Amino acid sequence: LFGFKTNKVSGYFDPITASKEDKLILPKGYKYDVIAAMDDVINKEGERFGDGSDYNAYFPLEGSNSRGLLVNNHEYTSIFSIGPVKDGVMTPEQVQKNLYYQGMSVIEVYRDETGTWKMDTKSKYARRINGFSKFDLTGPAKGSSAVGSAASAQGTFANCSGGVTLWNTVLSCEENFIETAEASKLNATHYGWVVEVDPFDKSYLKKHTALGRFNHENTAMGLAADGRVVVYMGDDKKDACVYKFISKGVYDKSKGRANSALLEEGTLYVANLKSGKWLPVTLEAVAEVIKNEKFKAPYGVTSKREDLLKRYVSQSDVVVNCQEAALLAGGTPTDRPEDIEISPFDNTVFICHTNNDIHGNIHGHITRIFETGSDLGALSFDFEIFAAGGRQSGFSSPDNLAFDSNGNLWVVTDISSSSQNKGVHQSFMNNGLFVIPTAGRSKGIAMQFASGPVESEMTGPFFTPDEQTLFLSVQHPGEETKDLSNPTSRWPHRPGDTKARAGVVAISGFKLG
Ligand code: FEO
Ligand code: CA
Ligand code: CA
Ligand code: CA
Repeated sequence: LFGFKTNKVSGYFDPITASKEDKLILPKGYKYDVIAAMDDVINKEGERFGDGSDYNAYFPLEGSNSRGLLVNNHEYTSIFSIGPVKDGVMTPEQVQKNLYYQGMSVIEVYRDETGTWKMDTKSKYARRINGFSKFDLTGPAKGSSAVGSAASAQGTFANCSGGVTLWNTVLSCEENFIETAEASKLNATHYGWVVEVDPFDKSYLKKHTALGRFNHENTAMGLAADGRVVVYMGDDKKDACVYKFISKGVYDKSKGRANSALLEEGTLYVANLKSGKWLPVTLEAVAEVIKNEKFKAPYGVTSKREDLLKRYVSQSDVVVNCQEAALLAGGTPTDRPEDIEISPFDNTVFICHTNNDIHGNIHGHITRIFETGSDLGALSFDFEIFAAGGRQSGFSSPDNLAFDSNGNLWVVTDISSSSQNKGVHQSFMNNGLFVIPTAGRSKGIAMQFASGPVESEMTGPFFTPDEQTLFLSVQHPGEETKDLSNPTSRWPHRPGDTKARAGVVAISGFKLG
Protein backbone atom coordinates (compact mmCIF):
# COMPACT_ATOMS: atom_id res chain seq x y z
CA LEU A 1 0.00 0.00 0.00
CA PHE A 2 2.80 2.41 0.83
CA GLY A 3 6.02 3.58 -0.66
CA PHE A 4 4.91 5.85 -3.49
CA LYS A 5 3.14 3.01 -5.33
CA THR A 6 0.32 4.95 -6.93
CA ASN A 7 2.52 7.83 -8.03
CA LYS A 8 -0.41 10.20 -8.44
CA VAL A 9 1.73 12.75 -6.65
CA SER A 10 5.42 12.35 -7.16
CA GLY A 11 7.03 11.73 -3.80
CA TYR A 12 10.21 13.17 -5.20
CA PHE A 13 11.00 16.85 -5.18
CA ASP A 14 14.06 18.78 -4.13
CA PRO A 15 13.14 20.01 -0.66
CA ILE A 16 13.56 23.74 -0.12
CA THR A 17 15.20 25.32 2.89
CA ALA A 18 13.64 27.72 5.39
CA SER A 19 13.30 31.33 4.20
CA LYS A 20 12.51 34.79 5.58
CA GLU A 21 11.51 36.24 2.20
CA ASP A 22 8.13 37.83 1.58
CA LYS A 23 7.38 35.18 -1.03
CA LEU A 24 5.61 31.90 -1.49
CA ILE A 25 8.56 29.67 -2.36
CA LEU A 26 8.16 26.21 -3.97
CA PRO A 27 10.61 23.50 -5.09
CA LYS A 28 12.17 23.70 -8.56
CA GLY A 29 9.68 22.81 -11.30
CA TYR A 30 6.57 23.85 -9.36
CA LYS A 31 4.55 27.05 -9.77
CA TYR A 32 1.53 28.73 -8.23
CA ASP A 33 -1.31 30.91 -9.51
CA VAL A 34 -3.14 33.31 -7.20
CA ILE A 35 -6.80 32.40 -7.72
CA ALA A 36 -8.47 34.85 -5.35
CA ALA A 37 -7.34 37.27 -2.69
CA MET A 38 -9.12 39.36 -0.06
CA ASP A 39 -11.56 41.87 -1.59
CA ASP A 40 -11.51 40.41 -5.13
CA VAL A 41 -14.95 40.43 -6.76
CA ILE A 42 -16.16 36.82 -7.03
CA ASN A 43 -19.49 37.03 -8.94
CA LYS A 44 -21.84 39.11 -11.06
CA GLU A 45 -23.50 40.48 -7.92
CA GLY A 46 -20.19 42.09 -6.97
CA GLU A 47 -19.71 40.12 -3.76
CA ARG A 48 -16.13 40.13 -2.51
CA PHE A 49 -13.76 37.41 -1.38
CA GLY A 50 -13.35 37.39 2.39
CA ASP A 51 -10.25 37.76 4.56
CA GLY A 52 -8.21 35.23 6.55
CA SER A 53 -8.42 32.35 4.06
CA ASP A 54 -8.23 28.94 5.70
CA TYR A 55 -9.82 25.59 4.72
CA ASN A 56 -10.27 24.69 1.04
CA ALA A 57 -12.42 22.01 -0.58
CA TYR A 58 -12.61 21.38 -4.33
CA PHE A 59 -15.78 20.00 -5.95
CA PRO A 60 -15.29 18.96 -9.59
CA LEU A 61 -17.90 20.15 -12.10
CA GLU A 62 -18.84 17.19 -14.30
CA GLY A 63 -15.95 15.20 -12.86
CA SER A 64 -13.37 17.70 -14.07
CA ASN A 65 -9.91 18.16 -12.59
CA SER A 66 -9.65 21.53 -14.31
CA ARG A 67 -13.01 23.16 -13.48
CA GLY A 68 -14.86 23.04 -10.20
CA LEU A 69 -16.17 24.86 -7.17
CA LEU A 70 -13.70 25.86 -4.52
CA VAL A 71 -15.06 26.46 -1.03
CA ASN A 72 -12.79 28.65 1.09
CA ASN A 73 -13.13 29.49 4.80
CA HIS A 74 -12.56 33.05 6.06
CA GLU A 75 -11.40 32.86 9.63
CA TYR A 76 -10.84 36.46 10.65
CA THR A 77 -10.31 39.99 9.46
CA SER A 78 -7.18 42.12 9.51
CA ILE A 79 -6.04 45.71 9.36
CA PHE A 80 -6.09 45.24 5.57
CA SER A 81 -9.83 44.49 5.39
CA ILE A 82 -11.32 46.57 8.22
CA GLY A 83 -8.55 49.08 8.97
CA PRO A 84 -6.86 49.73 12.31
CA VAL A 85 -9.09 49.14 15.34
CA LYS A 86 -8.56 52.04 17.75
CA ASP A 87 -8.19 51.09 21.44
CA GLY A 88 -9.58 47.63 20.70
CA VAL A 89 -13.09 48.94 19.93
CA MET A 90 -14.53 48.62 16.41
CA THR A 91 -16.59 51.41 14.90
CA PRO A 92 -20.13 50.42 13.77
CA GLU A 93 -18.84 50.30 10.19
CA GLN A 94 -15.98 48.00 11.23
CA VAL A 95 -18.43 45.70 13.02
CA GLN A 96 -20.32 45.31 9.73
CA LYS A 97 -17.14 44.73 7.72
CA ASN A 98 -15.93 42.25 10.32
CA LEU A 99 -19.08 40.16 9.76
CA TYR A 100 -18.87 40.54 5.97
CA TYR A 101 -15.24 39.49 5.51
CA GLN A 102 -15.55 36.36 7.69
CA GLY A 103 -17.45 33.19 6.83
CA MET A 104 -16.95 31.35 3.57
CA SER A 105 -16.72 31.85 -0.19
CA VAL A 106 -17.91 29.48 -2.87
CA ILE A 107 -16.05 30.35 -6.07
CA GLU A 108 -15.78 28.68 -9.46
CA VAL A 109 -12.22 27.96 -10.58
CA TYR A 110 -10.72 26.63 -13.81
CA ARG A 111 -7.40 25.96 -15.47
CA ASP A 112 -7.15 27.74 -18.81
CA GLU A 113 -5.46 26.52 -22.00
CA THR A 114 -2.12 27.98 -20.85
CA GLY A 115 -2.25 25.95 -17.62
CA THR A 116 -3.08 28.95 -15.42
CA TRP A 117 -5.70 28.59 -12.68
CA LYS A 118 -8.25 31.41 -12.50
CA MET A 119 -11.53 32.37 -10.87
CA ASP A 120 -14.64 32.48 -13.11
CA THR A 121 -16.56 35.51 -11.87
CA LYS A 122 -19.46 34.73 -14.27
CA SER A 123 -20.22 31.59 -12.28
CA LYS A 124 -23.82 30.88 -11.30
CA TYR A 125 -22.60 29.17 -8.13
CA ALA A 126 -20.21 31.82 -6.77
CA ARG A 127 -21.47 33.38 -3.54
CA ARG A 128 -20.53 34.53 -0.09
CA ILE A 129 -21.68 33.02 3.17
CA ASN A 130 -20.88 35.34 6.06
CA GLY A 131 -21.94 36.84 9.37
CA PHE A 132 -25.30 37.81 7.88
CA SER A 133 -26.39 34.44 6.44
CA LYS A 134 -29.18 32.61 8.25
CA PHE A 135 -28.40 29.11 9.56
CA ASP A 136 -30.84 26.50 10.85
CA LEU A 137 -29.85 24.83 14.12
CA THR A 138 -30.14 21.05 14.35
CA GLY A 139 -29.66 18.57 17.19
CA PRO A 140 -30.11 18.72 20.97
CA ALA A 141 -29.54 22.49 21.44
CA LYS A 142 -32.09 23.55 18.77
CA GLY A 143 -34.87 25.51 20.45
CA SER A 144 -33.42 24.89 23.93
CA SER A 145 -33.07 27.47 26.67
CA ALA A 146 -29.28 27.03 26.36
CA VAL A 147 -29.45 28.90 23.01
CA GLY A 148 -32.23 31.30 24.00
CA SER A 149 -34.88 28.99 22.48
CA ALA A 150 -33.53 29.75 18.99
CA ALA A 151 -34.14 27.44 16.03
CA SER A 152 -31.81 29.45 13.80
CA ALA A 153 -28.75 31.67 14.11
CA GLN A 154 -27.46 34.77 12.38
CA GLY A 155 -24.34 34.07 10.39
CA THR A 156 -21.13 32.18 10.74
CA PHE A 157 -17.66 33.51 11.57
CA ALA A 158 -14.24 32.41 12.79
CA ASN A 159 -14.39 29.62 10.17
CA CYS A 160 -11.12 27.80 10.56
CA SER A 161 -10.62 24.37 9.05
CA GLY A 162 -13.31 21.92 8.01
CA GLY A 163 -13.94 18.75 6.09
CA VAL A 164 -15.91 17.24 3.24
CA THR A 165 -18.80 14.90 4.05
CA LEU A 166 -19.45 11.52 2.41
CA TRP A 167 -22.46 13.19 0.73
CA ASN A 168 -20.53 16.00 -0.95
CA THR A 169 -21.19 18.93 1.35
CA VAL A 170 -18.72 20.95 3.42
CA LEU A 171 -18.40 21.10 7.18
CA SER A 172 -16.83 24.36 8.39
CA CYS A 173 -15.67 24.94 11.95
CA GLU A 174 -16.28 28.03 14.07
CA GLU A 175 -13.12 28.38 16.15
CA ASN A 176 -12.31 31.65 17.97
CA PHE A 177 -15.83 33.08 17.80
CA ILE A 178 -16.00 35.00 21.10
CA GLU A 179 -14.42 38.28 19.92
CA THR A 180 -16.72 38.69 16.92
CA ALA A 181 -19.82 37.63 18.89
CA GLU A 182 -19.03 40.23 21.55
CA ALA A 183 -18.13 43.02 19.10
CA SER A 184 -21.39 42.38 17.20
CA LYS A 185 -23.53 41.92 20.33
CA LEU A 186 -24.67 38.52 19.04
CA ASN A 187 -25.61 35.62 21.38
CA ALA A 188 -22.32 33.70 21.96
CA THR A 189 -24.14 30.34 22.26
CA HIS A 190 -25.07 30.59 18.55
CA TYR A 191 -21.39 30.20 17.58
CA GLY A 192 -18.66 27.65 18.19
CA TRP A 193 -20.49 24.98 16.19
CA VAL A 194 -19.79 22.87 13.14
CA VAL A 195 -21.73 24.32 10.20
CA GLU A 196 -22.74 22.48 7.03
CA VAL A 197 -22.96 24.11 3.62
CA ASP A 198 -23.88 22.64 0.23
CA PRO A 199 -21.78 24.40 -2.44
CA PHE A 200 -24.42 23.56 -5.06
CA ASP A 201 -27.45 24.74 -3.03
CA LYS A 202 -27.64 28.26 -1.58
CA SER A 203 -30.58 27.43 0.68
CA TYR A 204 -28.77 24.72 2.64
CA LEU A 205 -27.12 26.18 5.77
CA LYS A 206 -27.01 24.19 9.04
CA LYS A 207 -25.36 24.31 12.45
CA HIS A 208 -25.13 20.82 13.96
CA THR A 209 -25.26 21.14 17.73
CA ALA A 210 -24.90 17.39 18.38
CA LEU A 211 -21.20 17.83 17.50
CA GLY A 212 -20.67 20.09 20.50
CA ARG A 213 -19.78 23.73 20.96
CA PHE A 214 -16.09 24.52 21.44
CA ASN A 215 -13.14 26.09 19.60
CA HIS A 216 -13.77 23.85 16.61
CA GLU A 217 -10.77 23.40 14.39
CA ASN A 218 -11.80 20.73 11.91
CA THR A 219 -13.80 17.64 11.06
CA ALA A 220 -12.53 14.35 9.65
CA MET A 221 -15.33 12.01 8.58
CA GLY A 222 -15.19 8.26 8.12
CA LEU A 223 -17.31 5.17 8.63
CA ALA A 224 -17.37 2.72 11.52
CA ALA A 225 -17.19 -0.97 10.59
CA ASP A 226 -20.97 -1.18 11.08
CA GLY A 227 -21.69 1.78 8.77
CA ARG A 228 -22.30 4.52 11.32
CA VAL A 229 -20.75 7.90 10.52
CA VAL A 230 -17.76 8.95 12.64
CA VAL A 231 -16.51 12.55 12.85
CA TYR A 232 -13.19 13.36 14.55
CA MET A 233 -12.78 16.91 15.83
CA GLY A 234 -10.05 19.00 17.43
CA ASP A 235 -10.66 21.77 19.97
CA ASP A 236 -7.92 24.35 19.40
CA LYS A 237 -7.46 25.65 22.90
CA LYS A 238 -4.70 25.07 25.42
CA ASP A 239 -5.54 22.00 27.54
CA ALA A 240 -8.54 21.00 25.43
CA CYS A 241 -9.71 17.59 24.29
CA VAL A 242 -9.99 15.45 21.17
CA TYR A 243 -13.53 14.37 20.24
CA LYS A 244 -15.34 11.98 18.00
CA PHE A 245 -19.03 11.89 17.20
CA ILE A 246 -20.66 8.60 16.21
CA SER A 247 -24.07 8.75 14.55
CA LYS A 248 -26.98 6.69 15.77
CA GLY A 249 -28.04 5.59 12.29
CA VAL A 250 -25.97 4.11 9.48
CA TYR A 251 -24.83 5.73 6.25
CA ASP A 252 -26.77 4.89 3.09
CA LYS A 253 -25.02 6.10 -0.07
CA SER A 254 -28.24 6.00 -2.10
CA LYS A 255 -29.78 8.65 0.18
CA GLY A 256 -27.27 11.33 -0.83
CA ARG A 257 -27.56 14.56 1.16
CA ALA A 258 -30.36 13.17 3.34
CA ASN A 259 -27.53 11.39 5.20
CA SER A 260 -26.87 14.79 6.77
CA ALA A 261 -29.60 13.89 9.32
CA LEU A 262 -27.04 11.45 10.78
CA LEU A 263 -25.26 14.50 12.24
CA GLU A 264 -28.35 15.39 14.28
CA GLU A 265 -28.47 12.32 16.48
CA GLY A 266 -25.66 10.26 17.96
CA THR A 267 -23.11 10.20 20.75
CA LEU A 268 -20.25 12.60 21.28
CA TYR A 269 -17.13 10.98 22.80
CA VAL A 270 -13.97 12.47 24.26
CA ALA A 271 -10.54 10.81 24.31
CA ASN A 272 -8.96 9.72 27.58
CA LEU A 273 -5.30 9.21 26.66
CA LYS A 274 -4.46 7.48 29.94
CA SER A 275 -7.00 4.66 29.67
CA GLY A 276 -7.13 4.63 25.87
CA LYS A 277 -10.91 4.98 26.00
CA TRP A 278 -13.46 7.12 24.20
CA LEU A 279 -15.78 8.35 26.95
CA PRO A 280 -19.35 9.55 26.25
CA VAL A 281 -19.99 13.27 26.78
CA THR A 282 -23.61 12.84 27.81
CA LEU A 283 -25.89 14.21 30.50
CA GLU A 284 -25.79 10.79 32.21
CA ALA A 285 -21.99 10.74 32.30
CA VAL A 286 -21.69 14.32 33.57
CA ALA A 287 -24.49 13.90 36.14
CA GLU A 288 -22.88 10.75 37.56
CA VAL A 289 -19.67 12.68 38.23
CA ILE A 290 -21.12 15.88 39.69
CA LYS A 291 -23.79 14.16 41.78
CA ASN A 292 -21.10 12.25 43.65
CA GLU A 293 -20.72 13.91 47.05
CA LYS A 294 -16.98 13.29 46.97
CA PHE A 295 -16.79 15.26 43.70
CA LYS A 296 -13.43 16.89 43.08
CA ALA A 297 -13.18 19.21 40.07
CA PRO A 298 -10.78 17.87 37.43
CA TYR A 299 -7.94 20.06 36.07
CA GLY A 300 -9.45 22.85 33.97
CA VAL A 301 -12.87 22.93 35.68
CA THR A 302 -13.22 26.00 37.90
CA SER A 303 -16.98 26.04 38.60
CA LYS A 304 -18.35 25.12 42.02
CA ARG A 305 -20.28 21.88 42.38
CA GLU A 306 -23.57 23.64 43.17
CA ASP A 307 -23.26 25.67 39.95
CA LEU A 308 -22.49 22.54 37.94
CA LEU A 309 -25.56 20.80 39.36
CA LYS A 310 -27.70 23.75 38.21
CA ARG A 311 -25.98 24.02 34.79
CA TYR A 312 -26.41 20.46 33.53
CA VAL A 313 -30.09 19.65 33.17
CA SER A 314 -30.36 18.37 29.61
CA GLN A 315 -28.13 17.27 26.73
CA SER A 316 -28.45 20.78 25.28
CA ASP A 317 -26.55 22.08 28.34
CA VAL A 318 -23.86 19.46 27.73
CA VAL A 319 -23.29 20.37 24.07
CA VAL A 320 -23.38 24.13 24.73
CA ASN A 321 -20.87 23.86 27.62
CA CYS A 322 -18.94 21.11 25.87
CA GLN A 323 -15.39 22.00 26.96
CA GLU A 324 -16.28 21.80 30.63
CA ALA A 325 -18.61 18.81 30.17
CA ALA A 326 -15.86 16.85 28.38
CA LEU A 327 -13.37 17.43 31.22
CA LEU A 328 -16.03 16.36 33.74
CA ALA A 329 -16.70 13.24 31.65
CA GLY A 330 -13.01 12.28 31.88
CA GLY A 331 -11.49 13.75 28.71
CA THR A 332 -7.72 14.31 28.76
CA PRO A 333 -6.61 17.94 28.35
CA THR A 334 -4.14 18.07 25.44
CA ASP A 335 -1.83 20.50 23.67
CA ARG A 336 -4.19 22.42 21.36
CA PRO A 337 -5.54 19.76 19.00
CA GLU A 338 -5.78 21.34 15.55
CA ASP A 339 -6.41 19.41 12.34
CA ILE A 340 -7.16 15.68 12.27
CA GLU A 341 -6.99 13.34 9.28
CA ILE A 342 -7.93 9.68 8.95
CA SER A 343 -5.32 7.70 7.04
CA PRO A 344 -7.01 6.31 3.92
CA PHE A 345 -4.58 3.37 4.14
CA ASP A 346 -5.06 1.93 7.61
CA ASN A 347 -7.71 3.98 9.46
CA THR A 348 -5.14 5.36 11.88
CA VAL A 349 -5.98 8.90 12.96
CA PHE A 350 -3.42 11.74 12.83
CA ILE A 351 -3.85 14.75 15.13
CA CYS A 352 -1.76 17.92 15.11
CA HIS A 353 -1.12 18.96 18.69
CA THR A 354 0.23 22.30 17.61
CA ASN A 355 1.88 23.48 20.87
CA ASN A 356 1.06 24.44 24.45
CA ASP A 357 3.36 26.79 26.32
CA ILE A 358 1.56 26.08 29.64
CA HIS A 359 3.39 22.75 29.70
CA GLY A 360 6.53 23.65 27.74
CA ASN A 361 5.45 21.94 24.52
CA ILE A 362 6.79 24.76 22.38
CA HIS A 363 7.10 22.99 19.01
CA GLY A 364 4.14 20.58 19.17
CA HIS A 365 3.81 17.08 17.78
CA ILE A 366 1.65 14.86 15.61
CA THR A 367 -0.23 12.18 17.55
CA ARG A 368 -1.35 8.98 15.80
CA ILE A 369 -4.30 7.04 17.17
CA PHE A 370 -4.74 3.33 16.53
CA GLU A 371 -8.40 2.42 16.99
CA THR A 372 -9.00 -1.09 18.33
CA GLY A 373 -9.46 -3.48 15.40
CA SER A 374 -8.83 -0.52 13.04
CA ASP A 375 -12.54 0.26 13.51
CA LEU A 376 -13.35 3.98 13.63
CA GLY A 377 -16.38 3.04 15.74
CA ALA A 378 -14.20 1.44 18.46
CA LEU A 379 -14.42 2.84 21.98
CA SER A 380 -10.80 2.01 22.85
CA PHE A 381 -7.49 2.89 21.24
CA ASP A 382 -3.73 3.08 21.56
CA PHE A 383 -1.56 5.97 20.38
CA GLU A 384 1.96 7.09 19.53
CA ILE A 385 3.74 10.36 18.93
CA PHE A 386 4.20 10.00 15.17
CA ALA A 387 6.47 13.03 14.72
CA ALA A 388 7.68 15.73 17.09
CA GLY A 389 8.35 19.34 16.18
CA GLY A 390 11.76 20.86 16.92
CA ARG A 391 15.21 21.41 15.46
CA GLN A 392 15.68 17.70 14.76
CA SER A 393 12.60 17.48 12.53
CA GLY A 394 12.86 20.94 10.99
CA PHE A 395 9.26 21.96 11.69
CA SER A 396 7.44 23.62 14.59
CA SER A 397 3.75 23.95 15.47
CA PRO A 398 1.99 21.61 12.99
CA ASP A 399 -1.54 22.68 12.07
CA ASN A 400 -3.50 21.55 8.97
CA LEU A 401 -3.05 18.11 7.43
CA ALA A 402 -3.86 16.46 4.10
CA PHE A 403 -3.07 12.98 2.78
CA ASP A 404 -1.99 12.19 -0.75
CA SER A 405 -2.61 8.79 -2.29
CA ASN A 406 0.99 7.74 -1.68
CA GLY A 407 0.51 7.84 2.08
CA ASN A 408 2.33 11.13 2.55
CA LEU A 409 1.04 13.60 5.09
CA TRP A 410 1.15 17.23 3.94
CA VAL A 411 1.57 19.38 7.03
CA VAL A 412 1.51 23.16 7.33
CA THR A 413 2.99 24.93 10.32
CA ASP A 414 1.69 27.80 12.42
CA ILE A 415 4.39 29.48 14.45
CA SER A 416 2.65 32.62 15.69
CA SER A 417 3.70 35.80 13.89
CA SER A 418 4.98 37.30 17.14
CA SER A 419 7.36 34.32 17.63
CA GLN A 420 8.54 33.89 14.04
CA ASN A 421 12.27 34.31 13.41
CA LYS A 422 12.97 34.87 17.11
CA GLY A 423 14.43 32.88 20.00
CA VAL A 424 13.89 29.14 19.75
CA HIS A 425 11.89 29.66 16.53
CA GLN A 426 14.77 31.26 14.64
CA SER A 427 15.87 28.24 12.63
CA PHE A 428 12.38 27.60 11.21
CA MET A 429 12.10 31.12 9.73
CA ASN A 430 8.72 31.72 7.99
CA ASN A 431 5.96 29.13 8.28
CA GLY A 432 6.14 26.23 5.85
CA LEU A 433 4.46 23.29 4.18
CA PHE A 434 6.12 19.94 4.83
CA VAL A 435 5.68 16.45 3.40
CA ILE A 436 6.00 13.55 5.87
CA PRO A 437 5.73 9.94 4.61
CA THR A 438 3.67 7.75 6.96
CA ALA A 439 5.37 4.51 5.82
CA GLY A 440 8.46 3.33 3.96
CA ARG A 441 12.09 4.25 4.48
CA SER A 442 11.42 7.96 4.98
CA LYS A 443 8.57 7.41 7.47
CA GLY A 444 8.27 10.32 9.87
CA ILE A 445 10.90 12.47 8.10
CA ALA A 446 9.72 15.99 7.20
CA MET A 447 10.76 17.55 3.89
CA GLN A 448 9.93 21.20 3.24
CA PHE A 449 7.82 21.81 0.13
CA ALA A 450 6.85 25.48 0.55
CA SER A 451 7.76 28.59 2.53
CA GLY A 452 5.14 31.29 3.12
CA PRO A 453 5.42 35.08 2.93
CA VAL A 454 6.25 37.26 5.95
CA GLU A 455 4.04 36.71 9.05
CA SER A 456 1.78 34.31 7.16
CA GLU A 457 0.63 30.80 7.84
CA MET A 458 -0.32 28.48 5.02
CA THR A 459 -3.65 26.73 5.53
CA GLY A 460 -6.17 24.44 3.87
CA PRO A 461 -4.07 22.13 1.65
CA PHE A 462 -6.47 20.28 -0.68
CA PHE A 463 -5.71 18.23 -3.81
CA THR A 464 -7.78 17.84 -6.96
CA PRO A 465 -8.80 14.18 -7.45
CA ASP A 466 -5.95 13.62 -9.97
CA GLU A 467 -3.51 15.25 -7.50
CA GLN A 468 -2.12 17.46 -10.26
CA THR A 469 -3.19 20.62 -8.42
CA LEU A 470 -2.84 21.52 -4.76
CA PHE A 471 -5.01 24.35 -3.46
CA LEU A 472 -3.46 26.20 -0.55
CA SER A 473 -4.45 29.31 1.37
CA VAL A 474 -2.04 31.99 2.50
CA GLN A 475 -3.44 33.40 5.73
CA HIS A 476 -2.55 36.65 7.51
CA PRO A 477 0.52 37.81 5.51
CA GLY A 478 1.83 40.99 7.14
CA GLU A 479 -0.19 40.31 10.30
CA GLU A 480 2.04 42.46 12.53
CA THR A 481 1.40 45.59 10.43
CA LYS A 482 0.44 48.54 12.64
CA ASP A 483 0.61 51.30 10.02
CA LEU A 484 -1.14 50.78 6.68
CA SER A 485 1.35 53.05 4.93
CA ASN A 486 4.15 50.69 5.95
CA PRO A 487 2.92 47.07 5.70
CA THR A 488 5.30 44.29 6.76
CA SER A 489 4.18 42.25 3.71
CA ARG A 490 2.66 43.12 0.36
CA TRP A 491 2.01 39.56 -0.71
CA PRO A 492 0.72 38.53 -3.30
CA HIS A 493 2.59 41.45 -4.89
CA ARG A 494 0.10 41.95 -7.72
CA PRO A 495 0.66 45.08 -9.80
CA GLY A 496 -0.69 48.12 -7.96
CA ASP A 497 -1.04 46.33 -4.61
CA THR A 498 -0.09 48.51 -1.65
CA LYS A 499 -1.01 46.05 1.09
CA ALA A 500 -1.01 42.36 1.92
CA ARG A 501 -4.02 40.22 1.06
CA ALA A 502 -4.79 36.74 2.34
CA GLY A 503 -5.82 34.48 -0.51
CA VAL A 504 -5.82 31.09 -2.14
CA VAL A 505 -3.37 29.72 -4.70
CA ALA A 506 -3.28 26.68 -6.99
CA ILE A 507 0.07 24.88 -7.06
CA SER A 508 0.96 22.78 -10.09
CA GLY A 509 3.99 20.98 -11.46
CA PHE A 510 3.37 17.60 -9.80
CA LYS A 511 4.97 14.85 -11.82
CA LEU A 512 3.24 11.60 -12.67
CA GLY A 513 5.48 8.67 -11.78
FE1 FEO B 1 -7.72 28.52 13.26
FE2 FEO B 1 -6.69 26.49 15.23
O1 FEO B 1 -6.45 27.37 13.75
CA1 CA C 1 -5.58 25.93 12.16
CA1 CA D 1 -7.18 18.65 6.78
CA1 CA E 1 -2.87 27.37 14.45
